[in-house]
Amino acid sequence: MKVDVLLGLQWGDEGKGKVVDVLTPGYDVIARFQGGPNAGHTLLFDGVKHVLHTIPSGVFRPEAWNVVGNGVVIDPVVFRREVEGLMGRGVDPRPRLLISRKAHLILPSHRALDVANEHVKGKARIGSTLKGIGPTYMDKTGRNGLRVGDVEGAHFVERYAALREKHRAMLAGMDLEGMAPFDWEGAEREWHEAVGFLRTLQLVDSEGLLNGHLREGKRILAEGAQGTMLDIDFGTYPFVTSSHTVAAGACTGLGIAPNRIGEVIGIFKAYCTRVGSGPFPTELEDEVGERMRTIGGEFGSTTGRPRRCGWLDLAQLRYAVEINGVTQLAMMKADVLGTFDTIRVCTHYERPDGTPIAGYPFELDAETVRPVYVDLPGWKTDLTGLQDAESMPAALRDYIARIESAVNVPVTLLSVGPDRGQTLHLPA
Ligand code: GDP
Ligand code: IMO
Ligand code: MG
Repeated sequence: MKVDVLLGLQWGDEGKGKVVDVLTPGYDVIARFQGGPNAGHTLLFDGVKHVLHTIPSGVFRPEAWNVVGNGVVIDPVVFRREVEGLMGRGVDPRPRLLISRKAHLILPSHRALDVANEHVKGKARIGSTLKGIGPTYMDKTGRNGLRVGDVEGAHFVERYAALREKHRAMLAGMDLEGMAPFDWEGAEREWHEAVGFLRTLQLVDSEGLLNGHLREGKRILAEGAQGTMLDIDFGTYPFVTSSHTVAAGACTGLGIAPNRIGEVIGIFKAYCTRVGSGPFPTELEDEVGERMRTIGGEFGSTTGRPRRCGWLDLAQLRYAVEINGVTQLAMMKADVLGTFDTIRVCTHYERPDGTPIAGYPFELDAETVRPVYVDLPGWKTDLTGLQDAESMPAALRDYIARIESAVNVPVTLLSVGPDRGQTLHLPA
């Protein structure tokens, strides 16, 4: 058996949570492989909306096992809140929730450092979610981090204190004038209580477990967080997150060999959004972008920040498809463009002087690249009740065909609303 990977092809928030929920009945295990509480994955069914941050999006399907892999970073406080929040809604995820001992822990001082780093950067800030992601991955690669398995060890409290002191020394050396004070006492108390809660959960050596499942013929879906353009290597550095969001991240983030990867399902919106700072070639800073934001409800699932909106970018999508080895595409939020007379699509980039650009450029700012657009007719149809592919308006069919031919991968899933049921499976 192989591991299928589902991931975002743009700047995150493509609708990964919804698609994982839709596809979970076809899998035995759903496994998150990177990121942490910076993610916000939204699911909607039976009229109720759920937002997940660290827990895999298979959690509402009673048959599936959910694994938080070694590549994920966990804030015990957020994790506890998430588990208890689900229990409050009548879903106890604990019996089928497994957490890798090798996943790294986000400390309160990582969050304090995240805030401080952004404060010091000023206007050049990344627009981080301030969940402590960057500092935690820095400690991981710097070989200073604490891992989930450490909470079972005898010297956990001392090791915690040593790392916290290291962070406090770093903070003491920064110019933090004007920054709100950090509530150390409250944050640390809550964190240690949440670590106690974490100890009651199923902590496992997930790489062995997942490979065992593969030998037994079980089906595994790896759930990505963020998106390809936020990848630490291939995204719009430095305006990225600190993990490998691309398909290769599923191998390192779960302990799965590359030859065990099966389908790679790439999720994209029918347009583009981005939250936080950084280049966005097709961004619309006008009333058209505002219209997308309003109709699409484009406000962050984790931070509530308004998302920047723009047209679909095929140059960017081609790049993402290549880096990830995407074999199937899922196009989301087609309904949001349902009232637009004309829909623009960026087909490629050129230099501002009109010279063509080969490959995907190193810099994406307006002085370096200019997106070239084609205008397509809108489908001018309310798609939210669309039940079958045969009833698709011709303009939407053409839009999809144009994308498929630009990236040479079929769109096999079309989403026309946030609900689980507003999903069409298209023939490859
Ligand atoms: P994720 O981080 O990739 O899981 O995506 P988010 O949950 O952060 O953002 C996607 C948002 O779009 C959520 O509010 C979803 O409920 C919503 N959504 C997903 N698919 C569709 C769709 O096809 N149409 C509309 N209108 N909303 C959708
Ligand atoms: P999901 O999984 C959209 C963005 C932040 C910021 C940058 C770095 O819901 O798609 P970080 O907190 O990781 O240091 O922030 O990355 N970002 C996301 N944007 N969706 C996400 O996750 C994101 N996770 C981080 O806004 O620009
Ligand atoms: Mg999200």
